[in-house]
Amino acid sequence: MNDKDYQAILAKLTLDEKVCMCSGSTTWLTQPIKRDDVDIPAVRMSDGPVGLRREKMSGGVNIMQIPEPATCFPGAVTTASSWDEDLIEEVGHAIAVEAQSLGVSTVLGPGVNIKRSPLCGRNFEYFSEDPFLAGRMGAAWVHGVQKTNVGTSLKHYLANNQEYIRMCIDSIVDERTLREIYMPAFEHIVKTEHPTTVMCSYNRLNGTYLSDNKRFLTDVLRDEWGYKGIVVSDWGAVNNRAEGIKAGMDLEMPGGKGIGFNGNNIYNALENGTLTEEDIDKVVLRLIKFAYENKVREVDGVTYDVEEHNQIARRAAEGGAVLLKNDGALPLKANQSIAVIGKLAKKLRYQGGGSSHILPHKVTSFLDALDNAGQKYEYADGYTLKGEGYKKSLIKKAVKAAKGKDAVLLFIGLTDAFESEGYDRSHIKMPTSHVTLVNELLKVNKNVIVVLSCGSPVEIGEWDKGVKAILNVYLGGQAGGEATYNLLYGKVNPSGKLAETFPVCENDYLGSKYFRMGPRTVEYRESVYVGYRYYDSAKK
Ligand code: BGC
Repeated sequence: MNDKDYQAILAKLTLDEKVCMCSGSTTWLTQPIKRDDVDIPAVRMSDGPVGLRREKMSGGVNIMQIPEPATCFPGAVTTASSWDEDLIEEVGHAIAVEAQSLGVSTVLGPGVNIKRSPLCGRNFEYFSEDPFLAGRMGAAWVHGVQKTNVGTSLKHYLANNQEYIRMCIDSIVDERTLREIYMPAFEHIVKTEHPTTVMCSYNRLNGTYLSDNKRFLTDVLRDEWGYKGIVVSDWGAVNNRAEGIKAGMDLEMPGGKGIGFNGNNIYNALENGTLTEEDIDKVVLRLIKFAYENKVREVDGVTYDVEEHNQIARRAAEGGAVLLKNDGALPLKANQSIAVIGKLAKKLRYQGGGSSHILPHKVTSFLDALDNAGQKYEYADGYTLKGEGYKKSLIKKAVKAAKGKDAVLLFIGLTDAFESEGYDRSHIKMPTSHVTLVNELLKVNKNVIVVLSCGSPVEIGEWDKGVKAILNVYLGGQAGGEATYNLLYGKVNPSGKLAETFPVCENDYLGSKYFRMGPRTVEYRESVYVGYRYYDSAKK
């Protein structure tokens, strides 16, 4: 099929059919049109960057539905630290194969928003504070997915760097800062990988919602960068549908039966002359092309080896782990006696919360990995995963287990409550119970090795001095425990490097001062001084 064929199909559509096509038919499907001589297929989309979240039934939004099991790979925060494009491409490719096996034709990722501040609750889904790195890593992911003929959605475009009132916050950003920090990752991926879709974000940018922002959706994205794919709204991000059509926002998601949630707005605008059928045609022509090129793929025939994908997930976790400190305590030797302390060793925190949250095929915790390797250890919880407060009884048991051991492997970090899509962090400190635990253990054993799990930087200044080593495994995906075992015992060399700055203290960072603004606007007053650009300039 070529452009002429798509034009011919467009010419056959009624106005009502065109309006229907401007939004999806369910939460995840685009609107098919089937009658006499028209047969436009539907496109099925699913989240998301860490693995496939194909829901068993359509209808409902996000985490309310039960997903099909899939491989949970490490998130962008982890894979970015590998700085390894081949590895990220391999992850993308594996996700695409899983998408094909479940009839999904577009995977909603990658997220390439810049980590403006460690306080953003969704940072674990993003690659870096640096636009060049975010662009290169995101491009590798898109390449891996699209080479399998599965589509992607480059998100969330643009200046969506916080979760706090993300649906309506107005990001006030000057042109230089946009061009140097917030746009380049998108620009690079659009120009080099041609993602099938770009997802516009919920927020406003300099006064205008992205979903009806002609400047960024058409003048920049299409006219400057040459984008030929479609723009899809983040789920529920549509402000004014008719304005969106004029601005180049092709597809409203999710959708419903018929003309969807905002079809009336389109008819009203046609009636009062603020929108023309030609405006609609431009959008619908792109949607027809998209539907034919990305139609739901056949489920039959595509299968994958679950264990093979588990090994890719393990290698990605190993590649992204960063050895933050090592005074010679690592690697461990098999004959050393060890205490393993911390609930996170038993109940691995391997992914973040929100729309990227998936149902993994299996999860290997660190304790599972030790058991599989036949390694002896003494274990104590040390803390509970609920709340921050510590329990004296748990600390006492941990101290007892640590006494006299050659090494103490202490698993600490952020629990689910501290970070997620949907809200920001109120501080970047570690849970108090974890800090207390470090300090109590150091009183009885000098050989404490910390394994850190988190989706975004934490302050380490309060507790890092006395410990012998810190291995940051971030959120390692379903095989994170196995990867951690391999890294600690020297089967694999930890070779990741941070893709973001860990501030000694939150207030050292200028961006923290301007992060929480409000009530309806956030001014990016730190300008281009994001992450290391600030610390280097301020000599901090
Ligand atoms: C998220 C997107 C996601 C979409 C569909 C939105 O709330 O911001 O990243 O792709 O939901 O689940």
